[in-house]
Amino acid sequence: VIVLVGFMGAGKTTVGRKLAHRLGLPFLDSDEVVTERAGRPIRDIFAEDGEDAFRALERQTVLEILSGLDAVVALGGGSVEDPLTREALHGKDVVYLQVDLETALARLGEDAERPVLRDPQLEARYRARVPLYEDVATVVVPTRGRSAGAAVSEILERLS
Ligand code: S3P
Repeated sequence: VIVLVGFMGAGKTTVGRKLAHRLGLPFLDSDEVVTERAGRPIRDIFAEDGEDAFRALERQTVLEILSGLDAVVALGGGSVEDPLTREALHGKDVVYLQVDLETALARLGEDAERPVLRDPQLEARYRARVPLYEDVATVVVPTRGRSAGAAVSEILERLS
C-alpha cells in the first residue's frame, strides 16, 4: 500500500489517481469511501452529526482500507490527527504531499464540500498537522508550483 497524506489542497486525489494508474494499482480515497458508506456528502455529516462523528467514521474507514488489498490510498487531510491511524501507517510507504496554506487555499477556492475550510482556526489546524504529516511520512514531496505529473515522477523515483 502507498499512502498519500497532506493538507487539503495538496493534490492527494489528483496525484494519487495518476500514481495508481502508473503503478497499475487501484486507487482509493478515504473521503470517497466515507461518503459512500454514510450515503451522504461530508458536509452533511459535519452539519448533521458533527465533526466527531465524521472523525469516528473516518478512522474506521481508514483502518480498514489500510489493512486491505494493495492500492494507492489518499487520506483526508485530518486523518493523521488520529493516533490509531498514525500507528497503522507505521511500516507503510507514506508520501507527504507538502503544500503551504496560501497555495492550498488558492487551489481550493471556496469549496463548499470542505467544511473545515470555514473553520476560523484553520491556520492553527494547519500548523498542528504539519509535524504529524512529517512524522508519518517516509517520503516528502513539495507540490508548490509543480504539476501533478511532476509530483508523480518524483514519488516513483523516490519509492524505487
Ligand atoms: C478534512 C479534509 C478533507 C475531508 C474533510 C476534513 C480536514 O479531505 O476529509 O473535509 O480536516 O482537513 P481532503 O484533505 O481530501 O480535502
